[in-house]
Amino acid sequence: MGRAEKVILAYSGGVDTSVSIPYLKQEWGVKEVITLAADLGQGDELEPIREKALKSGAAKSLVANVTERFVKDFGFPAIQANAIYENRYPLSTALARPLIAQLLVEAAEQYGADAVAHGCTAKGNDQVRFDISIMALNPNLKVLAPAREWGFSREEAISYGERFGIPAPVKKSSPYSIDRNLLGRSIEAGILEDPNTEPPEEIYLMTKAITDTPDEPECIEIGFEGGIPTALNGIVLEPVALISQLNELAGNHGVGRVDMVENRVVGIKSREVYETPALTVLISAHRDLESLTLTADVTQYKRSIEDSYSHLVYKGLWHSPLKEAFDAFIQKTQERVSGTVRVKLFKGNAMIVGRSSDNSLYTPELATYTSQDKFDHKAAEGFIYLWGLPTRVWSEKTRD
Ligand code: ARG
Repeated sequence: MGRAEKVILAYSGGVDTSVSIPYLKQEWGVKEVITLAADLGQGDELEPIREKALKSGAAKSLVANVTERFVKDFGFPAIQANAIYENRYPLSTALARPLIAQLLVEAAEQYGADAVAHGCTAKGNDQVRFDISIMALNPNLKVLAPAREWGFSREEAISYGERFGIPAPVKKSSPYSIDRNLLGRSIEAGILEDPNTEPPEEIYLMTKAITDTPDEPECIEIGFEGGIPTALNGIVLEPVALISQLNELAGNHGVGRVDMVENRVVGIKSREVYETPALTVLISAHRDLESLTLTADVTQYKRSIEDSYSHLVYKGLWHSPLKEAFDAFIQKTQERVSGTVRVKLFKGNAMIVGRSSDNSLYTPELATYTSQDKFDHKAAEGFIYLWGLPTRVWSEKTRD
């Protein structure tokens, strides 16, 4: 008896996922492997990947174009939540995993598979995200992770694959481990493993080096409806087009590079580099628009949820009851977050320089220092007396 009869394998076309096909069949007795490659706007050509899976022994090779679903159902909610892990990482890779898990589960149900599989190793976050998302969506499915168990070095994986007709990669393989989708690129390993070494310029693709960015600032305008970005420079755009164009604009000014040491779920500290130009601009513009349209208490309370939300997403709990409850709260807060934010892009910075909204709570007659002032100055003294009363009492009782 093998570990499973029919398996849906998340497939990227890389060495590990290709070798997983014969490995699942030969070593783990799987009868049929169906691969599934997700197009998340990573820019790869999917047709050669689809064919490679068949050559590597897949019974069927599925390709799912889900870029729009990725942006709408995962990117936009994360922007509404201002989701940034450990204050630095806008979660571009983390957001893709629960969607891929969803696709695997949908395909398993459609094709009657008893298991799904992925090519993650034992040390990363992605295995956690896949496994937990899959168990949340269909607890009856087995999850197989051959690369977590086989113990092959890269060379061993390649020569195992060659035995089953999988050609060794033609290009000299990159020393980095890279994950890419429309929302960003994650780069790790290689020379980056030394946290004290500056990342070489060659690792970046979406963002220019500051030395190469324009010497003139560029002002852009982002329109939001209900917390969702809908327009760029006054033009209403579809989600994917908006993100692509903003990646270009912001990347051209070197906006959205992150170089950090992050805490992985499995306890390891890891040096990671990210490029998330559009996401970086959108989260900061969105947060700014919230400051104009939400009351002080909602804004402040939401901040505390945002951090917990980011941890949940990072740690694989996208599909979980607490995350769903946070979503309900966040959605309610977004009803009034509509308007326009002006952002100045210049030398790696995205500076917010203006914001406006029909739902603005900003009240000029209260804020102004001119003769238009409507604020009740007499009320201040009594307010401060009561607000400070506990402190006054404390002082009186504790002075010697
Ligand atoms: N550290 C990032 C995260 O946990 C990026 C992971 C990148 N994944 C990869 N297979 N290279 O989201």
